[in-house]
Amino acid sequence: MRTHYCGHLQAKDVGQTVTLFGWVDRRRDHGGVLFIDLRDRTGISQVVSDPERTPDSYKTAKDLGNEYVLKIVGRVTKRPPDSFNPRLPTGEVEIYADQIEVLNAVDHEANPLPFQVSAAESGSVKEDLRLKYRYLDLRRERMSRNLQLRHQVVKAIRRYLEDEQGFMEVETPVLTRSTPEGARDYLVPSRVNPNEFYALPQSPQLFKQLLMVAGFDRYYQIARCFRDEDLRADRQPEFTQLDMEMSFMSQEEILNLNEGLVCHIFKQVKGIDLPRPFPRLTYKEAMDRYGCDKPDTRYDLELVEVSDLVKESGFKVFSGAVASGGIVKVLPIPGGNEAISNVRIKPGGDLFNEATTMGAKGLAYIRVRDDGDIDTIGAIKDNLSESQKQELLNRTGAQPGHLLLFGAGDAPTVNKTLDRLRQVVAKELNLIDPDKINLLWVVEFPMFEWNPDENRFEALHHPFTAPYPEEAHDLKNARAQAYDLVFNGFEVGGGSLRIYQSGLQQQVFETIGLSQADAENKFGFLLEAFKYGTPPHGGIAYGLDRLVMLLAGEESIRDAIAFPKTQQARCLLTNAPSNVDAKQLKELHIASTHKPKP
Ligand code: AMO
Repeated sequence: MRTHYCGHLQAKDVGQTVTLFGWVDRRRDHGGVLFIDLRDRTGISQVVSDPERTPDSYKTAKDLGNEYVLKIVGRVTKRPPDSFNPRLPTGEVEIYADQIEVLNAVDHEANPLPFQVSAAESGSVKEDLRLKYRYLDLRRERMSRNLQLRHQVVKAIRRYLEDEQGFMEVETPVLTRSTPEGARDYLVPSRVNPNEFYALPQSPQLFKQLLMVAGFDRYYQIARCFRDEDLRADRQPEFTQLDMEMSFMSQEEILNLNEGLVCHIFKQVKGIDLPRPFPRLTYKEAMDRYGCDKPDTRYDLELVEVSDLVKESGFKVFSGAVASGGIVKVLPIPGGNEAISNVRIKPGGDLFNEATTMGAKGLAYIRVRDDGDIDTIGAIKDNLSESQKQELLNRTGAQPGHLLLFGAGDAPTVNKTLDRLRQVVAKELNLIDPDKINLLWVVEFPMFEWNPDENRFEALHHPFTAPYPEEAHDLKNARAQAYDLVFNGFEVGGGSLRIYQSGLQQQVFETIGLSQADAENKFGFLLEAFKYGTPPHGGIAYGLDRLVMLLAGEESIRDAIAFPKTQQARCLLTNAPSNVDAKQLKELHIASTHKPKP
C-alpha cells in the first residue's frame, strides 16, 4: 500500500519508512551513488540508492530509465544542508531505497520517448506532439497543475452552489433537437429514424428553462456544450459550461449571488479576496470607451469620439465617414510618438495591417512632438483648422509624446479596429500588469443587433432574453436584462432574465425574422410550456475552460482541458474525426457527397 504521495514528503517525515509509487522523472549517477527523482501527480521526491547503504535496491536502480513505473520502499532522511533543493517542497529530504520494484519498464531503444517528460530534461515541445502524446504531456508539472486547478474550481463551485445556496444538479440530454442560433450544430444521424438528426447541445438553454417550468428552482450543471464554429485560442468545439438557472429572482439578486460564487472560487483556489461589488459598465459605455463589450480594464488607453469635431473638416476621410452615418474615434497612446514608428502605421506596417484586417480602410494618425508641435500625415494637417487641432488635443488629453490613432467609418468597424489596436499596443508597451485581476459586469445590452449580411435583426444574447419591461413596447430599440462577466478582457460568463410569457416570446421570434410557423416548428414545445404556469426566471453560464485558463495564467484554452482539439477541430491523440465503414453509413442511411480534391 502507498503510504505517501511523492510530492508530500517533508522534514517532519524524517525517520519514517514509506512506500511510494511513481514514474522515474530522471536518474543521475554521482560516482556510484544513484539519485532517482520519483514523480507522481503531486510532485517529486528524491530517492537515493548506493552499493553500501542500500545494496538490495542498487542492482535495480542501476538499470532504471526515464518513465519506468516503480514501487519504492525506503527511509526518509534529512538531506545534508548543502544539498537542500529550495525549488522543491520535498527539497529537504531524500528517501534511501531499501527496495525498488519495477512495475513497468520502457524499452527506450525500441520506443524512444517522443519528448522528455522531466521538466529538467525537456525544452519546449511542439504543441502537436504534446497533443498526440497527451498522456505524457499530462504527466508534466504544468499540465498536471492545470488539471488539478480545474478540479479545485469545480469542487469550489459544487460546494458553494449546493451547500451554501441550495442548488441541485440536473443532467440534460446530449442528443437533442437542432435549433441553430449563433453557431452551427454538430449533427448526429438517427439510425432508427431515417433522414432525421439529433443535434448536440450548444448549451442546455431550453432544458434549463423547462426545468424552471417544472419547478426545479436553483438548477446547475457542469455541462458539455458543442459548437461548430471557427476556433480561436479561447474557443473549443466541445467545451464545458457551469450552467445555472434560478426562479423568482431579480437581476440584482442573480448578480449578487454570482459575485458570491466567483469570490468563493477565487478564495478557495487562489486565496484571493476579491473586492465587491464588481464594477459595472453598460454596453454603451463599454463600446464608447473601449470599442468592445469585453474590455480589458487593467490598463487605460480609452477611446475618444471626435465625430462632431471633425465632421466639418476638409479632411474627406473624416467628414465623409460622418456624413455617411459613421463615426470618427481616437485611440490616444501616451509615449506612442517615440515607441511607434511611421513604418508601422503606414501602409504595409504591422499596425496598419492589424487595422485593415479588422476592416479599416486606413490608419490616420497625429503625433504630438515633445515640443508640443503636431505632426500628421499631410492631409489631416492641411485640412484641420488651428482651433480644431487644439480642441482635438484637449478632448483626447493629448500631451507631448502622444500618438493619436484614428478610426473613421461605420461604428462597428471603427470600434473593432481601435479595440484591436488598443490590445496590441497595451501588450507592446507593457501596460498590462499580469497580477491584476479585473472582473466586471457588462449590463444593459441591446436586445438586437442588425445583421447587414442577412438583412435582419439578430438577438445579441439569444432570443429567450427578456427586455426591460418598460421598453418592451418598442422591442427593436429595447435594452435586454442581460449581463456578461468579463475577466481581464475575456468573456467568462453571460446570462439574462428570460421571457416567460408566450406572447412576448413570439414577438421576439418575429423581430428576428422567424415566421410564426417556423417558431412553432422549432420552439413550439417552449411556447406551449409557457402556457402552463411558468415562473419568472433567469440564469447564467460560465465558460469553465476559459475561467480555468485565466486562473492558471495560460494563454490557450487547450492548456485547461485534458484532451482538447486542435484549431482544425481534430483530436491528434485518437485521430478523430475519422472515416467510418461503409456499413455504418449504410445503417444510418447516409451517403457522402464529398469529392476529394484531385
Ligand atoms: P454563451 O453563448 O454566452 O451563453 O456561453 C456562455 C459562456 O461559455 C463560454 N463559451 C465558450 N468557451 C469555450 N469555447 C467556446 N466555443 C465557447 N462558447 C462560449 C464563454 C461564454 O461566456 N445559454 C447561454 C447562457 C445563459 O443565457 O444562461 C449561453 O450559452 O465563456
